[in-house]
Amino acid sequence: MITVKNEVFHLQNNGSSYLFRIRDGYPEHLYFGTQVETGDAEALAPAPGCGWGGSTLYSERSNACCLDILPLEWSGAGRGDYRESPLELSVEGSPVSTDFRFSGYEILKEQPASALPLSRGQSVLALRLSDKEAGLRLTLYYGVLPTVFTRRAVLENCGERPVSIRKFMSACTELQGPFVLHTFSGGWVAEAQHTVTPVTMARVCLESTTGASSNRANPGFMLAAPGSTETDGAVYGFNLLYSGSHYLSVQQSLQGVTRVLQGISPANFEWTLAPGETFETPEVVMAYSGRGFGGLSERLHTYINQNLIPPYWQNRPRPIIYNSWEGCMFDFTESRLLRLGKTAARLGCELFVLDDGWFGARDSDTGSLGDYAVNFKKLPHGLQGLGKKLGAMGLGFGLWMEPESVSHDSELYRAHPDWALHDSLGRENLLGRHQLLLDLTNPSVRDYIVQSVNVILDSAPISYVKWDMNRHSCVLGKMQHAFVLGLYDVLHRIFDSRPEILLESCSSGGNRFDCGMLYFSPQIWCSDDTDPVERLRIQTSLSYLYPPSTFGAHVSASPHAQTLRATPLSTRGNVSLFGCLGYELDLSELLPVEQAEIRNQIAFYKEHRRTLQYGRFSRSETDGGGIVWQMQTEAETVAGVFHGLQPAAPGYERLAVSGLDAEKRYRMESRRQLLRVGDFGTLLRHVLPVKLNPNGLAVSAADSHYKMYDGAQVLTASGAAFAAGVQLAPRFTGTGYDANGRMQSDFGSNVYAIKEVSTHEPH
Ligand code: GLA
Repeated sequence: MITVKNEVFHLQNNGSSYLFRIRDGYPEHLYFGTQVETGDAEALAPAPGCGWGGSTLYSERSNACCLDILPLEWSGAGRGDYRESPLELSVEGSPVSTDFRFSGYEILKEQPASALPLSRGQSVLALRLSDKEAGLRLTLYYGVLPTVFTRRAVLENCGERPVSIRKFMSACTELQGPFVLHTFSGGWVAEAQHTVTPVTMARVCLESTTGASSNRANPGFMLAAPGSTETDGAVYGFNLLYSGSHYLSVQQSLQGVTRVLQGISPANFEWTLAPGETFETPEVVMAYSGRGFGGLSERLHTYINQNLIPPYWQNRPRPIIYNSWEGCMFDFTESRLLRLGKTAARLGCELFVLDDGWFGARDSDTGSLGDYAVNFKKLPHGLQGLGKKLGAMGLGFGLWMEPESVSHDSELYRAHPDWALHDSLGRENLLGRHQLLLDLTNPSVRDYIVQSVNVILDSAPISYVKWDMNRHSCVLGKMQHAFVLGLYDVLHRIFDSRPEILLESCSSGGNRFDCGMLYFSPQIWCSDDTDPVERLRIQTSLSYLYPPSTFGAHVSASPHAQTLRATPLSTRGNVSLFGCLGYELDLSELLPVEQAEIRNQIAFYKEHRRTLQYGRFSRSETDGGGIVWQMQTEAETVAGVFHGLQPAAPGYERLAVSGLDAEKRYRMESRRQLLRVGDFGTLLRHVLPVKLNPNGLAVSAADSHYKMYDGAQVLTASGAAFAAGVQLAPRFTGTGYDANGRMQSDFGSNVYAIKEVSTHEPH
């Protein structure tokens, strides 16, 4: 709801309020937090004493009218506010001051059309500001959605001279109080490292300059009151609907106001705005929770699931994927793929994704990007033949592609070297993964991509696309932004008319995990690191800002390709269950017991898919040091308990389950996971009456026929007892095999389903 009264603007959604007012012509921020009334504006407004010392006064009439000390919705340069400005302009090479004054407002039913992705279903306030001397108009758009607010800014040159934009942030947000900044930076296979930085008067910035939102600096971040926990405290979350280089900065003023700026990275940015032209910034999304990090995640998850991803995929079950990459890399034939497909279908997978290597002469990552002719040596019956045969097995068919790139060694590059992005001074091309980016600012290049991808999609029964992009850009600011606009144009033109195709975005793993891509692709490949220990950290980090329904999460081989760490298959499965489950390993190498374990994982996932994809997610820990992920719907709760290194003599451990009705009774049952007999090694000699060679035939025969369950546990208790913490089965303590214990070694885990006991069942 948007209320405007006496130049006080009040945005309200389910539980939060955002208030500002016009004061002497400029927009003064009043409040962002738990829901209040419009009439509270005066009480919530800061009461500045006076302009201090050497301050510049905005108006001689009032000593208090000093822009430098007030919380503002926007600020210019050269008018007495010496804090970091959201806008920097120059005219004919010289910086110019800006001073935007209120000129009116409109309440709109929706956002005006844009070349950039915008949240869906917003009611919108357009605040009009103008700077007569500079000949500029600025519109600040505010959007209201059930759990978040949005902001963006559009600048129009109404003057007679071109204006050069050096820096133009999407929003300037000012919040009162001490804060701690939570950001998620990293790199390839090491995405989303949760970094906590106190907010002080020294400015903190997080920026990507690589042309993508990047694995170095996820655009999402949080500002939390010091001491905030999962369930308590004031926490603000911000994100940007943008997939290119971006910037955020936070800095506290002497008065205790933190200015938050977020938008396109100003690094080497220069965009000329000719008379009559406009420039629009990407949309910022912001949410407030008075219930700690958990409350904030809930708001952001609801927003992404309901107001950001493509409507066709909202609440729609995501298929269980088999992906050929880690199992086959470039080395496959149709018959090998069909054998894998047959096993995948038997285990319960629903969609077969043919990853890289199906086109041109692409037998390695050194060539053929851009040449989308099917390799008939590998696929004699083409994509159509393969797709149909997989379809006959009951599997959907998905395809990998990397349309934004071109290999140096490709027919496309030889024919159109000018279609690649090159250094503006003609320096030698720098390659990344042996490839260049195509010039998506060139309409002919975009037409080529759209046409090539359309032909592929129409040539076979393709229901899923993994859209990859595997290098950083070498062009600078303006070209990077124009590239991103080109990408969005291409995605609209290909996928708007094919809403039922499930798009999974990828960029060397999580190099473009952002809200801009989520607007088109309901799920994103989180990381090329599928080691479950790493994924536990990466997915925990992402979960603060993004729901598990957006996580591409696959089980891969052990030891892991990135870490050389050996981990139990049960844990690899358990981590991937909390996301969009998939398998990415050579299924032909699995032992029968491993196949049985995977079948169990998939059966469990199918039974609880709604909860695991769309439930309310929360993070906690057991008192035994286990990391807990919990997903909850009205119907049930699923909780995973994950451990690191296994100690000798582990203590008791309780799992506390939140969100249940204290007075109802619930039944908790663990997922029945399987162990390999061979995992016990020479210990088998202690537990079996006969002496067996752990690597011998008898043990592998036992693995085929004998099932050893791990951590089987069933209990019933009241919701009150679950909230207090129910005792988990004992962990392995050297006492031999016990099907009712948790036979955990390092990185062990279990998953539990908790459902209300029907009143007809005996307690
Ligand atoms: C990138 C992706 C991988 C895989 C390869 C294929 O690295 O992140 O998942 O698709 O490309 O070349």
